[in-house]
Amino acid sequence: MSSSAKDVATLDIAWVRQQFPALNQTVNGQPAVFFDAPGGTQVPQRVMDAIVNYLASSNANTGGAFLTSRNTDQIIANARAAMADFFNCAADEVVFGANMTTLTFAFSRAIGRELKSGDELLVTCLDHDANVSPWVCLEERGAKVRTADIKPGDCTLDMFDLSAKVRRSTRLVAVGWAANAVGTINDVNEIVRLAHDAGAMTFIDAVHYAPHGPIDVRALDCDFLACSSYKFFGPHLGILFGKREQLQRLRPYKLRACTEKLPDRWETGTQNHECLAGLVATVDYIADVGRHHNSEVKTRRQAILAAYEVFQQHERELTEQLISGLLAIPGLTFYGIKDPSQFDRRTPTVAIRMEGRTPRELATHLGERGIFTWDGNYYAINLAERLGVQESGGMLRIGLAHYNTAEEVERLLTELRGLAK
Ligand SMILES: Cc1ncc(COP(=O)(O)O)c(C=O)c1O
Repeated sequence: MSSSAKDVATLDIAWVRQQFPALNQTVNGQPAVFFDAPGGTQVPQRVMDAIVNYLASSNANTGGAFLTSRNTDQIIANARAAMADFFNCAADEVVFGANMTTLTFAFSRAIGRELKSGDELLVTCLDHDANVSPWVCLEERGAKVRTADIKPGDCTLDMFDLSAKVRRSTRLVAVGWAANAVGTINDVNEIVRLAHDAGAMTFIDAVHYAPHGPIDVRALDCDFLACSSYKFFGPHLGILFGKREQLQRLRPYKLRACTEKLPDRWETGTQNHECLAGLVATVDYIADVGRHHNSEVKTRRQAILAAYEVFQQHERELTEQLISGLLAIPGLTFYGIKDPSQFDRRTPTVAIRMEGRTPRELATHLGERGIFTWDGNYYAINLAERLGVQESGGMLRIGLAHYNTAEEVERLLTELRGLAK
């Protein structure tokens, strides 16, 4: 399948789906529908193969003078190169860790070492707690944490409030690229600009954005950006981009045995080598989607960008179908952007409530019919509180990925229409 520069090819959904064995599962005789992507996506067969192959033929610790250890060193270097293409940065600016939360705590502790009383940090009301609590913990060191509000009508950030809270005393602005609860894509370019104008660093949580949109840390000019590969079709790992000068300047908590080399000084203990092998296969899967749909791409980076074009076009169609279908159901409350002209400001993740049913009841009903959705606050605690749903079970989250289909969306809508009667 090919495309010209202007026309984006239609996603070859059969080709995509045949790569994900998990999609063939059934529940009570019905095909499973994975609408739990913001909690974690499914993985292509090649990712599983890479993990198994590593354990079968290269399993060792690093830095040894023998084959399996050298293989391991090479796999880690390959994973760094793959993520450098994914982020558009240098390989020594890529830091691996257990998950995004652990990496964020490591960086908040290091940043805390240089804070003075009266310094301010800015978080938002829209974000997952992993980009909130690691900064709030720094109040112990005398820092003051401010919270940028949202516009509750469409769950977008109140940029007026945010810009008023970025001041000369602000040391860091921590913000999500996209909201895991309601799908809002934030204007991170503008937020980085505001922060830098005030002399503050920026820490971007790209966990929810990464499966849906391309990341270019050079263009964004952020200081730090963290994501998790299990949200973009890979294994359970956290990955962080840090600007080289920041990675050199800040002082990590580390062992004496760990060198001062970049990025090693930020990677504590032994890494998850098998998952790093899987991560290489994950990035190559995404790049192969690009190559499959656009024969003109040359580099892996270009192929990754081409993949996101087809992901976004496909997800946009599903979003239109899903949201217009949901809005026609009586008794349903919809949280987030619902105006189609604004859909480039959202991911295919939506949150709803239905009159007379708790989110858990909805998720259970759907789950029994093989449709996997999430209920609760999904750790977007500030948001659930701000929307007044924290005490009553949160919301039902329907989170799509590029491997979902129009038929699956229709099945969900049929079930919800039935429940609304
Ligand atoms: C937006 C967002 N940020 C951060 C996290 C935390 O990621 P991890 O599980 O890798 O610590 C999640 C996980 O759900 C998330 O959705």
